[in-house]
Amino acid sequence: MCGIVGISAKKNVSSDIVQCLNHLSYRGYDSAGLSITKDNEIFERKIQGKVTNLENFLNNDPISGNCGIGHTRWATHGEPNTINAHPHTISNVSVVHNGIIENYHDLKAILEKSGVNFISDTDTEIISQLINIELINGKKPLEAFKNTITKLEGAYAIVAIFRGYDDLMIGTKLGSPLLYMKAKNMIILSSDAYSISDYGSSVTYLEDGDIIVTEKSKISLHDYSLNTIQRPSKKIKKRDKDGLNGHDHFMIKEIKEQPDVLSHALSYYLNFSKYKINLDKYNFDFTKINRIIISACGTAYFAGMVAKSWFEDIANIKVDLDIASEFRYKKMFFDNKTLSLFISQSGETADTLAALRHAKENDQKIVSVVNTVESSIAKESDLVLPIFAGQEIGVASTKAFTCQLATLASLVLFLAKKKRHINASQEKALIEELVHIPSQVLDVLKYENDIKKIAKDIHKSSSAIFMGRGATLPLALEGALKLKEISYIHAEGIASGELKHGAIALVDKKLPVIVLAPDDIFYVKNLSNMNEVYSRGGKIILVGKVQNNQLKDLKLTGINIEVNGKLNIPIIMSIPLQLLAYHVAKLRGTDIDQPRNLAKAVTVE
Ligand code: G6P
Repeated sequence: MCGIVGISAKKNVSSDIVQCLNHLSYRGYDSAGLSITKDNEIFERKIQGKVTNLENFLNNDPISGNCGIGHTRWATHGEPNTINAHPHTISNVSVVHNGIIENYHDLKAILEKSGVNFISDTDTEIISQLINIELINGKKPLEAFKNTITKLEGAYAIVAIFRGYDDLMIGTKLGSPLLYMKAKNMIILSSDAYSISDYGSSVTYLEDGDIIVTEKSKISLHDYSLNTIQRPSKKIKKRDKDGLNGHDHFMIKEIKEQPDVLSHALSYYLNFSKYKINLDKYNFDFTKINRIIISACGTAYFAGMVAKSWFEDIANIKVDLDIASEFRYKKMFFDNKTLSLFISQSGETADTLAALRHAKENDQKIVSVVNTVESSIAKESDLVLPIFAGQEIGVASTKAFTCQLATLASLVLFLAKKKRHINASQEKALIEELVHIPSQVLDVLKYENDIKKIAKDIHKSSSAIFMGRGATLPLALEGALKLKEISYIHAEGIASGELKHGAIALVDKKLPVIVLAPDDIFYVKNLSNMNEVYSRGGKIILVGKVQNNQLKDLKLTGINIEVNGKLNIPIIMSIPLQLLAYHVAKLRGTDIDQPRNLAKAVTVE
């Protein structure tokens, strides 16, 4: 999703802006651009497509100067073309923006009536037009900028540069992140600490409503009334300089990191040697809680679905689960015994953040399970449970999903114990399941060659079905999501019991049906559904308990997974599904790490 950078330095900033745009590109985008001030003029280059297109453009037609802004755009208002790409330069000002200006139609109508011509279809252009009018009316840049933002409704991070002011950058934020770094001979503004971590080790995050002004090497921060303010700086983690570590894609690198990151996450929440949960270290009162509301989007929502069954089965706590874009508009029956729990890899997903705020306005205590601990969702939570997955670059979430599950499983056990719903030996058995997860993931990763063969067999299919029951229903949904998002094969996840109510009509000898049947209480029922597919000639891939006679009699392909616990099944069984999606997509030659139309952090509604 959109990314912002702004750089002021004692040298030409063009190549540094492009470098930062390259580091922002993991978020998903469809155009890129930059503008630079020099000799009292603004120079702009922007183009549809990847940052390499922009680099080629700049090689043929370079621009230079000591102060400039750049942007990677993921289209919301207006097609992903060059005109709609950022920056938006209107004679005296050039602007980059993340987020959405919700009242831009009204503002645009007013300006159009007074004869202003709009060039693009974007909501962002209204910002440039408004600032430009203020400047034409004689206002200085800071006043022009401030007067403009008071008119804007929505969520935004904005950075602007100005014609006639070669060293000046002004930025602000409301809802979307913006931060700055004072690096060697350089000031950098960005929407994402990771993208600038090559330049320094600490950054300062702006709070909503803060305005930053940088001029040569000076930085000043102001509140909305333009009083000078200070914000603390924070240490940041370095960008993963190893890049792909010899892998073809970040997605497969991240799939293979799972034994390590899971062990990291679990060892934070569990004391492996004493078989104890370490959540008492948080000063958070869980005692009154008798209901949990969970909300999230995409893969994080499926992690929530797994967690719902765990909270209910293991901790005996009722859970209401909702997709964040629905939650925010629904009556949720909040009360003071309910805990609101939000799950998000990025911590910036607009709908999840809005759902959190909706819960907060209703006096809910907020717990978030996030990967990015400096994110907006983390900052607005009463308790943050980090998942320790490390930077996830592939748009399709893999290691974040299993680390979300590991973190949620720890919380479930903690609450089950607090509520005295499990006794010491049950607690020990469940912790034991978690302790073995990293090594079991390592074992399952060894199936990669078998999965490659399955991928070869099904990669030309136009559709696929994933089916599961109980613990594996959320995995069927997640497995289908993984396959469709990166391979562009239409895929559907269904409850095995629903097969006969519709999906069975699709079964023919070309349709791959991935049956998720571990050795649990549903095994026999899952097998009967599998037989229904077999009788109609479907191509069965059984993931779970695979018996030799099935391989022979049903001629199915199987991935034998030997786990059968409540906590370990969803974590371990998601690994073959990730590998399958990856290898199918690879054979189809898609853009695996940045699939078309998708973004890593969806910061718009
Ligand atoms: C996007 C990503 C998904 C992710 C979802 C929720 O759609 O492509 O991988 O699951 O957003 O993101 P979050 O950062 O809130 O987990």
